[in-house]
Amino acid sequence: MQMEQLVALCKRRGFLFQSSEIYGGLNGFWDYGPLGVLLKKNVKDAWWSDMVVAHNEMVLQRGAPGLYEMTGLDCTIIMHPQIWKCSGHYDLFHDYMVDCRESKKRYRYDHVKGRTVAYHGQSVFATTMETENTQDCLEQAALKFFGLRKKDVENLEWSGEIMAISQLAGFSNVLGPDAKTIGTLTAPREFNLMFKTVIGALGGEDDASFLRPETAQGIFVNFKNVCDSTRVKVPFGIAQIGKSFRNEITPRNFTFRSREFEQMEIEFFCHPSESPQWYKYWRDRRFAWYTELGLAGERLRLRDHDQDELSHYSCGTADVEYQYPFLPEGEYGELEGIAHRGDFDLRSHMEGKLMRDGDGLTLELDADGKPKHRGSGKDLTYYDEVTRERYVPHVIEPSAGADRATLAFLCEAYHVDQVPNDKGEPTERVSLKFHPRLAPIKAAVFPLVKKDGMPEIATELYGELKREFSVFYDDKGAVGRRYRRQDEIGTPFCITIDGQTARDDTVTIRDRDTLEQWRVKQCDLAAELRGRLS
Ligand code: GAP
Repeated sequence: MQMEQLVALCKRRGFLFQSSEIYGGLNGFWDYGPLGVLLKKNVKDAWWSDMVVAHNEMVLQRGAPGLYEMTGLDCTIIMHPQIWKCSGHYDLFHDYMVDCRESKKRYRYDHVKGRTVAYHGQSVFATTMETENTQDCLEQAALKFFGLRKKDVENLEWSGEIMAISQLAGFSNVLGPDAKTIGTLTAPREFNLMFKTVIGALGGEDDASFLRPETAQGIFVNFKNVCDSTRVKVPFGIAQIGKSFRNEITPRNFTFRSREFEQMEIEFFCHPSESPQWYKYWRDRRFAWYTELGLAGERLRLRDHDQDELSHYSCGTADVEYQYPFLPEGEYGELEGIAHRGDFDLRSHMEGKLMRDGDGLTLELDADGKPKHRGSGKDLTYYDEVTRERYVPHVIEPSAGADRATLAFLCEAYHVDQVPNDKGEPTERVSLKFHPRLAPIKAAVFPLVKKDGMPEIATELYGELKREFSVFYDDKGAVGRRYRRQDEIGTPFCITIDGQTARDDTVTIRDRDTLEQWRVKQCDLAAELRGRLS
């Protein structure tokens, strides 16, 4: 599938729009249209329902089967600035960027890739932002640089492999992605990804705060509140869905890397001795969630991080990854990370910013030997009344992106096949084969023709179904065309009221994927849909 086709469909049918489009758009920001908002809400509802409300899994806890508790939070986007100092985001949450002095563009250092190319003895390291067809882009850049035409491509002499510019010793022979001359890229510089804001009308630097770059910290700083107000017992999890903000240097690939996005995060608190077992549990459970909702097959994988990939807080992480169609052949993009965060966060918010020291953690000190960033000083330990033990719980964090999940479900759903039209001729059909739980519209109601009492029956039925399901009414055009319109937005069932309906009170249901049609009594329709949608 070509990504451009999906992007065009998303715009045409109202799934996703570029933010602020009439003003030329704003890079890294996306608006969900009428269908997109339903799709994303279904993704978030499925997550909340499966992880929090309907969760009913018995799991071995200290040798005995037990049910763990799950609860929720909805924290503010702007929080006390000290939170980001203790969490490590203030000092460590950055990417490296390079600027181009000629094009005035800015690039993420690790995303600029290139290869050495020569023509008539002159050699240059041509670069591009990594894409699904990096070599093609490099060819175009080289042709432009040497002032050649497409037919001259065979005269270019390539050497070495495609590699990131971070592997080069210097940039003097590098042609920036949008530059005409070489040597215009600056040395890499650090860039903090948090959006800064100021609290209050008179706010100065002391009142500076940040839009949260993750929802997780709101959960950690409320750990004690949740324990005290709900009397949950460890092990338990706190879930949160909400907006996060990162000032990404090069947002791209549709909604995959945005500057404003939504996360679905769980912080699961457990006894330190049981944390390896819980880490494995959540790693497998989260992978299974995606497969149950239709992301099965080779395009989805679970990958354990190497030691050198681990975040500053993590002593084990696995990613659920999906082969998004905009990535180079065979490459996967992160959908969700499941991290073993140990006691890093609770301890940091008690004691102050911690740093890794061998296998353990120690307080980070400034030049005067004082804590670099002070913690809250509050007691965030947990007391187990049964074992009479006091400890800092360990945390397992399944952290998913609602937008990346929605995008993966969209990519996976996109299908093109041949189906017969009204005259029985094979025609190309585009359909979104969403899992019924995720489909924005669950059923469409059609009167076969606009006469013989059919529209009246259809509108009454539509009104009844609407109380329970998200349904759509359509009486325009040939029924075959109405089917196509619904297939293209992923509606799993189309219900047609025809001449027989008035006689025996039955309607036709048509299945989006199998194209099978069958008749059901009107009074049984809601139950039939309920069964097929769950
Ligand atoms: N609390 C841990 C944390 O935030 P992360 O790997 O940085 O970990 C978790 O982010 C998830 O949030 C990612 O797996 C991804 O799905 C989503 N995410 C992160 N940055 C994103 C961005 N710029 N645009 C869209 N989604 C993003």
